[in-house]
Amino acid sequence: MNFSNVISKKKNNIELTEQEINWLVESYVSEKLKDYQMAAFNMAVCFNGMTNTELAAFTKAMINSGITYNLDGVTGPFADKHSTGGVGDKTSLIFAPLVAKFGVKVSKLSGRGLGQTGGTIDKLESCTGWTGEISETRFKEILNTVGLSIMGQSKEVVPADKKLYALRDVTGTVDSIELIASSIMSKKLVVPADSIILDVKVGSGAFMKDISSAEKLASTMIGLGKSYNRNVSVMLTNMDKPLGRAIGNAIEVKEAWDTLHGKGPDDLNELCVTAAALTLTQTKIFNSLETAKKELYKTLADGSAAHYLKDFVIAQNGDFSMIENYEKYFTTKYQHEIVAPKEGYVKFKSADGLGYLSMHLGAGRETKEDNIDFSAGIYLNKVNGEKVEAGQVIMTLYTNIDDKTRFINEANEQILITDQIEQEPVILKLITQ
Ligand code: URA
Repeated sequence: MNFSNVISKKKNNIELTEQEINWLVESYVSEKLKDYQMAAFNMAVCFNGMTNTELAAFTKAMINSGITYNLDGVTGPFADKHSTGGVGDKTSLIFAPLVAKFGVKVSKLSGRGLGQTGGTIDKLESCTGWTGEISETRFKEILNTVGLSIMGQSKEVVPADKKLYALRDVTGTVDSIELIASSIMSKKLVVPADSIILDVKVGSGAFMKDISSAEKLASTMIGLGKSYNRNVSVMLTNMDKPLGRAIGNAIEVKEAWDTLHGKGPDDLNELCVTAAALTLTQTKIFNSLETAKKELYKTLADGSAAHYLKDFVIAQNGDFSMIENYEKYFTTKYQHEIVAPKEGYVKFKSADGLGYLSMHLGAGRETKEDNIDFSAGIYLNKVNGEKVEAGQVIMTLYTNIDDKTRFINEANEQILITDQIEQEPVILKLITQ
C-alpha cells in the first residue's frame, strides 16, 4: 500500500477497504504517516464524507489504536456524556457531580479545545497539577472513592484521536460529520457506560450550523453506539449564543463551581439538569424526566453536589484552592470593559465570533504548539436578550496580551443592541431510545 494512493482514493471518492483504513490509522499513530499527509486525508473526508462501512472501520481502528478500559471491581451504574463542542460549554463539570450525587459513576474521556470551542481537559488543567492521563487502576480507585473520573486521550487510550484531534484543530478539518462522530464515539466506546448522553450543539458557535446536519451527526453517533450495544440519548442544544456567562478556561471552572452552588445562569442550569435527568432515567434512578429534573434543581440550589467536583480535581492531583481563591490566581495584566453605546437588548452576532475572540485573548490554540493562558477569557456581564442601559458593561475581556484596540474592536463587532427581546430555548430536541 502507498500513502499517496490511499489519500488520492479518498479524494476521488472511491471507498477504502477496512485494511487500508487500519493501515492508515496505524501508520499515523506510529508516525510513519506524517501530519501533512493525514491533514490531506482529513480534508478529503471533509469534502467527500465516508461510507458507513468506512466510518465503522475508521472508528474501530481508532478504538484499537490503544487500550480499552474495563471497570471490574467498581460498582455501577456508569454514565458518560459528551458535547460536540461549543463556546462556554462547561456542562461536563456540572453534569458529572450532579449524577455522582445520585450514585451514578461518571467514567469519562474528554478532549481539549477544538477550533473556536473550549475543551474540558484544558479547563481542568487550570488547576495546577491536574492530569487527565491516569492509569486504569487509578481511574477505578477514583471512581470507587469519589464517584467520577475524567481522562483525556493519551498515548495509551485512543492515541489515534489524541493525534488527529490536535491536527484537525489547526487545519480547518473539524467540521466533518464522520470525523466528529468517530472522534467522539471512539472515546465513548473504550470505557464501559450504561448510559451515554450526547449533546449535539447547533448554531453559529457549533460545528453543525443547522438542525438537519445536527440530526445527521446525531443519528450517525447513535448508529455507532448501537453497533456496540450502547444506550445513547441525544440532546440537540442551542449554540447560537454562548452557554452561560464565562468563556475561557479557569473562568469556566469557576462558573461551574458557582453553578453547583445554585448561582448558575438559567441556560446552563437547564442544560446540565436535563442531561443529568436523562442519565438518571436511563439508569433507572428516577422513573420520569420531570421528577429527576425537580430533584436535580434542588441539588443545584442546596449545593450538595459541589464537593464531587472539588474531590475529583484533587484526586487527579489538581489544586482546587485556585478556583476557590480565583482572584488570587487568575488575574490578568489587562481587563477591558466593553460598554453599551445605547439602551436596548443585547444580541451577540455569533457565538463563534466570541469563541475566536477568547482564543485571540490567549484562551485557545491557533497552532498545535501554542500554550493556553488559563486566566484569559471573557465574562458576559450581559447575555443574549438581556436589557442594557447606555454606558453599562456588556462584557469584560481578560488577557495578558497588549493589544487593546484590536480586542475592543473585535468585541464591539460581535455586539448588536436591538429593540426587541430575543429569548431562545437552550434545549431544541431530545432523541431518546
Ligand atoms: N468533540 C470531540 O471529541 N471530537 C470532535 O471531533 C468534536 C468534538
